Amino acid sequence: MKAGIDQYILQHDLGLGAIEELEGYLSPRELSRARSLRYSDDRLDYVCSILCLRVIVGRVLGVEPQNLNIVSSATGRPLIENETDTLHFSLSRGKGTTAIAISQDMDIGIDIERLSLCCGLSNYLDYFLSNEEKCHFVTVPPLLRDGYLCKIWTTKEAALKLLGLGLQLDPKNVVVDLSSLNRGGIQQITIGDTITYLSNMQIDDYSISLATPKPAQVKTTYLTASSLVEMVSSQFYPQCGNICVEGASRELCA
Ligand SMILES: CC(C)(COP(=O)(O)OP(=O)(O)OC[C@H]1O[C@@H](n2cnc3c(N)ncnc32)[C@H](O)[C@@H]1OP(=O)(O)O)[C@@H](O)C(=O)NCCC(=O)NCCS
Repeated sequence: MKAGIDQYILQHDLGLGAIEELEGYLSPRELSRARSLRYSDDRLDYVCSILCLRVIVGRVLGVEPQNLNIVSSATGRPLIENETDTLHFSLSRGKGTTAIAISQDMDIGIDIERLSLCCGLSNYLDYFLSNEEKCHFVTVPPLLRDGYLCKIWTTKEAALKLLGLGLQLDPKNVVVDLSSLNRGGIQQITIGDTITYLSNMQIDDYSISLATPKPAQVKTTYLTASSLVEMVSSQFYPQCGNICVEGASRELCA
């Protein structure tokens, strides 16, 4: 695997009938979580995201997806047993989509949200915006506000995941410079004395943020769940090879 960060965006293009087969790739803990989900759509999103994570991380390590031992830190950060210092990754689920970032160089945090589902965020300004951010936010034209909030939300969540703290850290303490949020490129955000680097992108209806401890080169690959299923069913797994992508392909193993 080369230096930098690989970011994968997975479209969940399988029907509900695929859930049972995909459950075969899950650990007993993941399986019990999948089965505890009330709605089939959520279960499909969950099993697709875990398959994606297991295939991507598994191919980097040369391990079959179902044999990967994924554990959680006390705060919920996912880790691979015996690889905690050598392989960094982060996962986020949107409706119908999964985003995964992986790196051998640095910690990472990723978050994805569906823009069209972010309209309710304006009811929670006091929960996740600092006073300064709120003051700036009221100057944003009303038509642009949902998109703005979605981007702030994913930015803060990505930073919370990078630090591995999740909601142990108050989202209001992740300070985003709203005036630079729409400028594009990499921006800096501060959390106490810590500086974090953020890149935001919008793909179709999704807002995606990636947080890193230093500026990083990011390569994005688009996948479908069906292409992953084809790949893991192939007799060549787990050898290195091209991962199937819509319109692009690249080597997963360096
Ligand atoms: C867990 C959290 C980090 C993100 O959760 P989320 O947005 O609901 O869900 P996502 O799909 O984006 O991310 C879930 C994944 O984050 C990862 N994650 C969870 N805790 C983590 C932590 N402490 N550090 C790093 N990654 C973590 C896990 O891989 C998790 O997947 P899993 O459920 O299969 O274990 C946390 O911020 C949370 O619970 N948020 C709830 C919403 C909220 O209040 N957000 C504040 C926004 S400013």
